[in-house]
Amino acid sequence: MAVRNTLRVAAAATCALALLALPAGAGTEGPGSAGVGDPYFPTDGNGGYDVAHYDIRLKYQPSDDRLEGTTTIVAKPTQDLTRFNLDFALKVNSIRVNGTPVRTFTQQGKELQVTPATTLRRGSLLTIVVDYADTPSNVKVDGTTAWRRTSDGAVAIDEPHISSWWFPGNDHPTDKATFDISVAVPEGTEVLSNGVLKSNPTKYGWTRWNWRSTKPMATYLAFLAVGQYEINTKTGYNGQPFVTAYSEGLGEIEGAAKASIERTPEAVEFLVGLYGDYPFEAQGGVVPKEGLGFALENQTRPTYSPAFFRNGANMYVVVHENAHQWFGDSVSVQTWRNVWLNEGFATYSEWLWSEAKGEGTAQQLFDYEYGRRPADDPFWQVLPGDPGSKQVFHNAVYDRGAMTLHALRTEVGDQAFFSTIKSWVAQKKYQNGTIEEFIAHAEKISGKKLGKLFETWLFTKGKPQVGAQSGVAA
Ligand code: ARG
Ligand code: ZN
Repeated sequence: MAVRNTLRVAAAATCALALLALPAGAGTEGPGSAGVGDPYFPTDGNGGYDVAHYDIRLKYQPSDDRLEGTTTIVAKPTQDLTRFNLDFALKVNSIRVNGTPVRTFTQQGKELQVTPATTLRRGSLLTIVVDYADTPSNVKVDGTTAWRRTSDGAVAIDEPHISSWWFPGNDHPTDKATFDISVAVPEGTEVLSNGVLKSNPTKYGWTRWNWRSTKPMATYLAFLAVGQYEINTKTGYNGQPFVTAYSEGLGEIEGAAKASIERTPEAVEFLVGLYGDYPFEAQGGVVPKEGLGFALENQTRPTYSPAFFRNGANMYVVVHENAHQWFGDSVSVQTWRNVWLNEGFATYSEWLWSEAKGEGTAQQLFDYEYGRRPADDPFWQVLPGDPGSKQVFHNAVYDRGAMTLHALRTEVGDQAFFSTIKSWVAQKKYQNGTIEEFIAHAEKISGKKLGKLFETWLFTKGKPQVGAQSGVAA
């Protein structure tokens, strides 16, 4: 293989101009790579094909955590493909490609390597059917299990990695797809997922919940919550389906959770006012009683740990997760190093809600976050623009990340600031972005050189000086 690669590189060098005119992947035949080259998570995603749609059709038995069924992937090879990988950790029974059993498949950790019977042609319609059964809570990848059993079911909710515990796929935000997620559970059990509930028929003691997502979605944003839930279906912002679900037995936080999450349409309306059209087809929120130590912006339907409502209603977490529908879900990271584009913006959206509700201006919140951490606080050693794979969700990405946006706003003024952000989400809708692209975009809209500001706030260790050079008044 190495020899062939060398030859291919040599050939590319001599006829680089000719190749430049061809689409990516043209002229190559061979295996797809086992990763898309994310610097933090090199084996995430796979090369050689592009997924358009996942049809996930499962059956789940909560009493023994048995998950079984098939996932059908509709995709397109981006090169002539002799072999490809899927990210999947559960035990596989069989795989068919384009209707035919594959020649071989092998599995190591979450890398499932598939050799089809024949070479798959670039641009052709590719279907991959994976049949599987396993107990996800027992399956470890790099020593951990992201799938969580609860006393009444399970939750498949995590970031950046969850999909390989419940469906095979191309697990990286650069390959988004539409989803049909269908799960049968014993009658009397509920299943929540993304998008719109198309039906939930019951036959011979099993209820099959059929959920559909019609807008492109990253694999980590697809979720399942199985258990005993109170489900409420209403009309949300702009007449869209608004589905909320609360675990039975939430205890004393139930009222505070409802007093927050039922206000999702109001939060969405506020965010539409800031950022432009809501990008998806439905809204909602889910509170599982166990299994979650965080909140997550699952597309169309964020999920919340009950802990967020310990002290009463909490609109900040609702605004944060719904802001991610624009920042993270619609405009997704190109690689995980760019996580500031998600968390900095979602956190700054909380500051804007605070400002709008008279609970403290963004400047006051900036001053508070800046002032409460002395220069020798290790907080200032984590770079929001490159936090490292083990600190993707470090406070610095959130709080120093929001401070960065406030520094930008102070430097360019409200008009340029909000028009920068609005046009960013419009131009990048359903796509991927990098911090460098955002900086270039902000410079273009404001007509100002902003390299130094971003270098200081995102990419330089230590507590930034506040004053003329940062653009933020002390
Ligand atoms: N994106 C989530 C939020 O801030 C954070 C997820 C944290 N994930 C985790 N596994 N701890 O809304
Ligand atoms: Zn967040």
